[in-house]
Amino acid sequence: MSIQTTNTRRYSPLDDVLISADHALRTLFGRPQTTERTNPAAPLPETELREDQRKHVARLMRINHTGEVCAQALYQGQALTAKLPETRQRMERSAEEENDHLAWCETRLEELGDRKSLLNPLWYAGAFAMGAATGLAGDKWSLGFVVETEHQVESHLNTHLEQIPTHDEKSRAILEQMKVDEIKHAQIAKSAGGADLPSPIRFAMKLTSRIMTRTVYWV
Ligand SMILES: [Fe+2]
Ligand SMILES: [Fe+2]
Repeated sequence: MSIQTTNTRRYSPLDDVLISADHALRTLFGRPQTTERTNPAAPLPETELREDQRKHVARLMRINHTGEVCAQALYQGQALTAKLPETRQRMERSAEEENDHLAWCETRLEELGDRKSLLNPLWYAGAFAMGAATGLAGDKWSLGFVVETEHQVESHLNTHLEQIPTHDEKSRAILEQMKVDEIKHAQIAKSAGGADLPSPIRFAMKLTSRIMTRTVYWV
């Protein structure tokens, strides 16, 4: 692997490995580094939920949290192999905003008294490999992969918003802001040159996401 250049800094392959490992550990076991934005749920009142509602919402938030773990992995894998420096720079802010989502979901999950998925390391590894593979395939494909991922996350957030009680303002505020951000991330990746993915790939992505959501709901 050749030496990479990001902005004015040069990273050796060993640096890349260490940076990737550090990022993975912080995503999976640490506290995400957020942007200047505040958690949209913070100013809102806590709500009374029936036990069955609390459990269901917490499991949905666990799925969203794992989705954001995958988003981190995807952007990291892509940043490692994306060829054009502009691509990495353009996607940087989106990746930072995914960290906000990760932190907000984690906080809400704690407030609802539930835990993160035990399978997160597995999903992180898979999404990282996918991000790196699409980066190797070429920037237009890796950006296209981001566009499709963000579209799928958007429709998936819509189904969660339909299921979360209207009086759970905190959970809803987080998902609403995430939806706004994901739509913007898709537009950024598209305008940076993201290609439309072939339908078998889109179908495989939907299938993988269905497996993820069904298992993470419980584990
Ligand atoms: Fe996100
Ligand atoms: Fe996103």
